[in-house]
Amino acid sequence: MNTNHAEAPSATAACAMVIFGATGDLTKRKLLPALLNLAQEKVLPQHFAIIGVAGGEATTESFRKSLTAEIPQFAPDPIDLKMWDWLVERIYFVPGDFANPDTYKRLQVQLETVNKNHGCSGNNFFYLAVAPRFFATIVQQLGAAGLTKEENGKWARVIVEKPFGHDLQSAIQLNTELKKVLTEKQIYRIDHYLGKETVQNVMVFRFSNNIIEPLWNRHYIDHVQITAAETVGVEHRGGFYETAGALRDMVPNHLFQLLTMTAMEPPISFDADEVRNKQAEILHAIQPLTPEEVLTNAVRGQYGPGDVDGKHLPGYREEPDVDPQSNTETFVALKLLVDNWRWAGVPFYLRTGKSLAQRTTEIVVQFRRTPFVLFRNTTVKNIETNRMVIHIQPEEGISLSFGAKVPGSVMRLGLVNMDFDYDTYFGTEHSTGYERLLRDCMAGDATLFQRADMVEAGWSVIQPILDVWHALPARNFPNYPAGSWGPAEADELLARDGRTWRRIGEEDVDLRSKHLAERKAATT
Ligand code: BG6
Repeated sequence: MNTNHAEAPSATAACAMVIFGATGDLTKRKLLPALLNLAQEKVLPQHFAIIGVAGGEATTESFRKSLTAEIPQFAPDPIDLKMWDWLVERIYFVPGDFANPDTYKRLQVQLETVNKNHGCSGNNFFYLAVAPRFFATIVQQLGAAGLTKEENGKWARVIVEKPFGHDLQSAIQLNTELKKVLTEKQIYRIDHYLGKETVQNVMVFRFSNNIIEPLWNRHYIDHVQITAAETVGVEHRGGFYETAGALRDMVPNHLFQLLTMTAMEPPISFDADEVRNKQAEILHAIQPLTPEEVLTNAVRGQYGPGDVDGKHLPGYREEPDVDPQSNTETFVALKLLVDNWRWAGVPFYLRTGKSLAQRTTEIVVQFRRTPFVLFRNTTVKNIETNRMVIHIQPEEGISLSFGAKVPGSVMRLGLVNMDFDYDTYFGTEHSTGYERLLRDCMAGDATLFQRADMVEAGWSVIQPILDVWHALPARNFPNYPAGSWGPAEADELLARDGRTWRRIGEEDVDLRSKHLAERKAATT
């Protein structure tokens, strides 16, 4: 991973990108806008081309035309037309069935043409933006067509989208299938959370600041909360979501990325395998839940209808393509323990859900109370403990709360915040989150991609929960109204341990204004 802040990013080697499933949403919403941003930053190779592969009737001409019409609404910034003209001339389309060897013959011919016309040097990466049932088929066909061979210094890499399997067994099976054709070094299992600046910053924050490390352990940290809350429901993805649910969709991938970044030991270097070894260690150290523990430490929920800001939101069972009796969970909260020297006894509480009260992704590190109370008339209970909140989105930054003396002749303590916000320091970054990941794949840097063992270790933690939930379908769904913070059981999960979830929104009041208003009220 390039961590040298003084080093300007440079363009990677000439290559061609092949997108399977190129007529789907991901290409126009994320991949093309990201490539355009890379071209604007001058880090896309000059010798570059894109080949879209999909079923249907499209041609290179019609594909270019529809992208040109659609990209402006999805690019994070107004697009530079000259740059788009440059990029669009390098876009081609190969129609075909993913299971048919003829598709790959046509692809091969197209690759030879782009090598000739755009000097792509025979380096190729294949992006599988397709339904998971096609992953193994496409890779087998690429192999059979000789397109995954790395010879004479040429490379061939495959980016695999999530979901990577739907349980432990299927993830192992998929890894086995892919490895019949590819080496681990050729496989880039993507998780778009790792493309987020603030997620990458967790590592930088922890390992480049000497004041953090001594406190980052069970002696000083009481517990950690990781929240990924969405206000939207399942929208048009009911069909997919019915087969997935919140646990599969968000936990073994996105939430575990946040957990491992928070909990991992310092790597000895930023080499891809060094970093991923440390993350894998954490996944292996998560205590698997016994069936009894699943009943107490894993909470599931499904949203019913609700009213938010005068607007009526439908319940999950009323969404398109959802079974009106569906038992799929749209919310999950977990209490996990990481069994290692640093974290023994420190709970990690995770929660994620759809149709919640506020869109927020954050990591809360709650520090322990002071051992002794020095201030008269203040009980330990009333002393607020230090808390660090790493805001991932939509706010991006870090805040640290600590106690300060409220001015006046009486000793009173008040909570104040020290805030760092990305936008103030660095300006807003208009990226899709895919820029960094695409560039890293072109550069052969797999640090921010999942290794086979990590994916399997993540599923191993989830599997006992899947099993118990499958055996005992929920009987109380829907159990939270759209627009709330999830089912009451999620609060009880923490309440049993004498803790509460951070009150997102309510606690994000500007403490400065609050203190000033209180002082004003006290003096008038
Ligand atoms: C995807 C899930 O991986 O991540 C979606 O399939 C979810 O259900 C999305 O909405 C959340 O991503 P982000 O970047 O909006 O937090």
